[in-house]
Amino acid sequence: KDITEGTVSWESPSNIALIKYWGKKKDQIPENPSISFTLNACKTTTVLSYSKKETTSDFDFKVYLDGEHKPDFQPKIKTFFERVLVYLPFLKDYTFKIETSNTFPHSSGIASSASGMSALALCLMSLEQQLQPEMTTAFFNQKASFLSRLGSGSACRSIEGDLIVWGENETVEGSSDLFGVKYPYAVHENFKNYQDTILLVDKGEKQVSSTVGHNLMHGHPFAAQRFAQAHENLASLKPILESGDLDAFIALIESEALTLHAMMMTSMPYFILMKPNTLEVINKIWSFRKETGLHIGFTLDAGANVHVLYPKSQAEVILKFIKTELASHCQNGQFISDEIGFGANQL
Ligand code: PMV
Repeated sequence: KDITEGTVSWESPSNIALIKYWGKKKDQIPENPSISFTLNACKTTTVLSYSKKETTSDFDFKVYLDGEHKPDFQPKIKTFFERVLVYLPFLKDYTFKIETSNTFPHSSGIASSASGMSALALCLMSLEQQLQPEMTTAFFNQKASFLSRLGSGSACRSIEGDLIVWGENETVEGSSDLFGVKYPYAVHENFKNYQDTILLVDKGEKQVSSTVGHNLMHGHPFAAQRFAQAHENLASLKPILESGDLDAFIALIESEALTLHAMMMTSMPYFILMKPNTLEVINKIWSFRKETGLHIGFTLDAGANVHVLYPKSQAEVILKFIKTELASHCQNGQFISDEIGFGANQL
């Protein structure tokens, strides 16, 4: 089919890993399996406009963030286009305008790569679908996740919700290194509408990018152990998700978060992404949990910000605690209230 011009739009969410992906092989193949909650409020909206060129030439696209032309985004998108060209052979036939915006403040220290790359991959899939109209939804989603992975590994977990597994493993049937799959087993009511309040402890640019961090797992003294542990943790998580054992859940995800940062601290060169306020917040969460018996826990991504995780049923008291005790450790008192979401939407 010949498509000359048009526009497609998608909004795609961020996600937060419970079992962390840290370390990759060639072509964005993860060294270990990971599982994440898809988020709801933190998302990217991307509008892709395309018009067919007279003759096929090199990639031709412009990127805008909040209406502003962003030439500095060009190299990252170009790398992405180069990687996915074999799977989307039409990429050189069109001129593209990519207009994007995030619901969370940019420079909030919240990575926009998962939501941004998945939103762009979905837009490109919509064009692909017009060229190949017989495509099924299952194929569409799987290929969108596959392409997202080539943009940013964790982005492959943002297409659907609410729990997504990426990386081949023995616990989850149908799991793959190439794309994310929906977690296929029973999940207890306790995890329904699970809350994630993201404390913006540090909004600065990270000193070490995740690309560099992943690479430092090559030759890392604890790499083999860590990759094996991720498999074990995924196996342990299955009965926890089924039974709704929140104490065991918290122990597992907090250990995962601290292990991720321990890998950074034991790389060569070593680095620390946590800030003094990250530790203040963690200690306060632990004291509050001990005092109240409430099911408040945390996880971290590759940065100083803290994701506070808790069941919806305990949200009232925990949110009050966050506002009165934790917000003062955030830059400008800022935090984002989010919860489990169900994946991307076409607009
Ligand atoms: O997708 P990347 O390359 O930005 O790596 C993300 C890694 C972590 O956020 C630290 C963990 C994860 O599984 O999302």
